[in-house]
Amino acid sequence: MIFPEYRARRLRQNETFRALIRETSISPDHLVYPLFVMPGKGVREEVPSMPGVFRISVDQLAKEATECLGLGVNSVILFGLPDKKDSKGSGAHAKDGIIQRAIKELKNKAPKLTVCTDVCLCEYTSHGHCGILINEVVDNDATLEVLAQTALSHAQAGADMVAPSDMMDGRVAEIRGILDENNFPMLPIMSYAVKYASAFYGPFRDAAACAPQHGDRKAYQMDPANIREALREATLDVGEGADILMVKPAMAYLDVISRLRDEFDLPIAAYHVSGEYAMIKAAAANGWIDGEKVMHESLLSLRRAGADIIITYFAKDMARLLNG
Ligand code: PBG
Repeated sequence: MIFPEYRARRLRQNETFRALIRETSISPDHLVYPLFVMPGKGVREEVPSMPGVFRISVDQLAKEATECLGLGVNSVILFGLPDKKDSKGSGAHAKDGIIQRAIKELKNKAPKLTVCTDVCLCEYTSHGHCGILINEVVDNDATLEVLAQTALSHAQAGADMVAPSDMMDGRVAEIRGILDENNFPMLPIMSYAVKYASAFYGPFRDAAACAPQHGDRKAYQMDPANIREALREATLDVGEGADILMVKPAMAYLDVISRLRDEFDLPIAAYHVSGEYAMIKAAAANGWIDGEKVMHESLLSLRRAGADIIITYFAKDMARLLNG
């Protein structure tokens, strides 16, 4: 017998061979770009912990949309900073709330752009929790109705997809119900089905000013130690009518993405979150890593693990790289 029996390096000799046998691909079609929208006019404010990411006012959205579409990034997900917060998060479902105005502006000025919205209360509550507090505890069932109203208000403003990120039990069913009753049977729900109580959200909480004012989110977001529970969460959301299952964060949870890919046939989204972005940016700024290559490798790994959709602050940079 000849040694070695098989030479794996034969098909790594040149880029054509490598491209021929490449198992995973990534294109701008797979990317969703998060946008932070805030009150005011002409505002374009860089988030200190997320270089290259800006909080922008509604009038700046059209420009952003044109840039995304020009790069082939056809979907965005919106996060809002309201004019004012209150204990019940009423800004989340206000008819002329920040997100509702943002959706209308985008649908008006860039109808080709697919507009997803994050459905949660944490950016709108004075206490920073993702739901309604009763005796200092986030009350699941009291929160459901407010979330449903929020999703409906996004639909009425023209959103193309809603993405509940609150982690209340039963919210997908509640949202599906109110959308169907109000003639939005075709509006998909991308559920943050498996969302961990993660320290990787730090920079986002600066960006969206939504850190909890007391305590943490461990009573509703998942324990990073658990994967069987992730399957249970996903099963519940499938039963309640979710169209897409999301895992969040992404890089530290590749095993979870992979398991969901094996066990479910719904499309899977991975949210490469703010802390993951910030770490790459910071190391690159120090010259410690090649930021572009690490970005590419990171996002590719999410596709390899089984994600169809990738939500990332790198969406435009990645598309630029892919478009050459
Ligand atoms: C709202 C929400 C958060 C993120 C997305 N939606 C913050 C949180 O749950 O604390 C985090 C996204 C990111 O870190 O990029 N609940």
